[in-house]
Amino acid sequence: MSSYSSSISSTALVIFFVLLLRGIEAQLSSDFYDDTCPDVYDIVRNVIEQAHESDIRIYASLTRLQFHDCFVQGCDGSLLLDNSSTIVSEKNSPANKNSARGFPVVDAIKAALEDACPGVVSCADIIVLAAEASVELSGGPSWCVLLGRRDSTTANLTSSQNLPSPFDSLQTLRSKFSAVGLNDTDLVALSGAHTFGRAHCRFFSGRLYNFSGTGRPDPTLNGAYRVQLQQNCPQNANPNGLNNLDPTTPNIFDYYYFLNVENNRGLLQSDQELLSAAGAASTTAPIVNSFASDQSTFFCNFAASMINMGNISPLTGDQGEIRENCRVVNDS
Ligand code: HEM
Ligand SMILES: *[C@@H]1O[C@H](CO)[C@@H](O)[C@H](O)[C@H]1NC(C)=O
Ligand SMILES: *[C@@H]1O[C@H](CO)[C@@H](O)[C@H](O)[C@H]1NC(C)=O
Ligand SMILES: *[C@@H]1O[C@H](CO)[C@@H](O)[C@H](O)[C@H]1NC(C)=O
Ligand SMILES: *[C@@H]1O[C@H](CO)[C@@H](O)[C@H](O)[C@H]1NC(C)=O
Repeated sequence: MSSYSSSISSTALVIFFVLLLRGIEAQLSSDFYDDTCPDVYDIVRNVIEQAHESDIRIYASLTRLQFHDCFVQGCDGSLLLDNSSTIVSEKNSPANKNSARGFPVVDAIKAALEDACPGVVSCADIIVLAAEASVELSGGPSWCVLLGRRDSTTANLTSSQNLPSPFDSLQTLRSKFSAVGLNDTDLVALSGAHTFGRAHCRFFSGRLYNFSGTGRPDPTLNGAYRVQLQQNCPQNANPNGLNNLDPTTPNIFDYYYFLNVENNRGLLQSDQELLSAAGAASTTAPIVNSFASDQSTFFCNFAASMINMGNISPLTGDQGEIRENCRVVNDS
């Protein structure tokens, strides 16, 4: 009896240590490529700086890719896969189609890395590295990027169709973040990425003319700003017109996004709701106010939240693969 239970407990112990070791092996780390691709940080940065010479918006576009990758089956590069016989691309979801951009720059980074250290750096890590460098090059904070993710061999269009939407209520946004382990501080800090980049008229023109079927504009939208937006996005005209997300400093990563929201100049419904929705006062509004009052508080929290978002269920160890081409699964 006692030898039976002791053999059970030693089996349990072995299983425990195997799991522990796998857990350790599965940790992401900032020095993951130190031996295998020591110039990885410089290579990523050089490619995106070069892309920026002909595309001032590219830093914003690359930053957004981390969000759209990590929220869909984790930070695994699934966003980058194109349609094929085995893949229905996430690029077809409403959040991505004619919206997510920067894929050719990711390809250029991958090509440069394959030259320097073939088969080593994952596409999932490229996304996270490009986001950090983009924010830093735009005047925002820098942070210690954790690396060691591997690439998926699958995509999930359904999950991509469920990305947080600009038309979601605050409660829905909070629950979509919470479903991936991110709290209200992360929601507010990461929304601060709307300090740069552009948005198409189709994502906010409802607020200008007929908000939620009321026949009136969104009452939480500043009147002067609304008139300006109406000029840029005439009713029933070009839904693909582009507008700055931050009217104050459109290409700089700073805390003006939060000052805009405080002045009822959040562009998307989902931006303004962080301050103005019913239920915001006891959840996200105090966080908006704290970031609007001090840029360094926002920067610290943004960096921490990008790391949190980068930790959403990565593939590690011998899971997944290192794709040769970010758009296709190996040997397919
Ligand atoms: C809270 C939920 C969020 C919603 C509902 C949302 C929604 C949107 C929408 C509708 C656009 C405009 C897209 C277009 O017109 O093509 C946009 C752009 C953008 N978003 Fe978000 N977003 C959210 C969170 C985030 C997060 C977490 C990040 C990154 C940390 C981010 C970064 C960006 C950037 C940088 C742009 C501009 C991209 C460009 O110019 O190419 N967003 N977002
Ligand atoms: C990818 O496949 C989907 C579903 O089969 C299709 O609706 C979509 O148009 C395709 N996209 C591209 C870019 O070919
Ligand atoms: C895709 O994501 C949805 C959740 O959005 C999940 O229910 C479904 O199981 C996933 N599909 C696969 C094949 O993993
Ligand atoms: C969110 O989590 C962070 C730790 O990642 C913590 O510092 C912060 O206080 C939390 N925010 C809320 C609103 O619970
Ligand atoms: C506003 O939208 C609602 C619902 O979609 C519609 O019934 C109504 O006719 C629209 N009003 C105007 C003034 O366009």
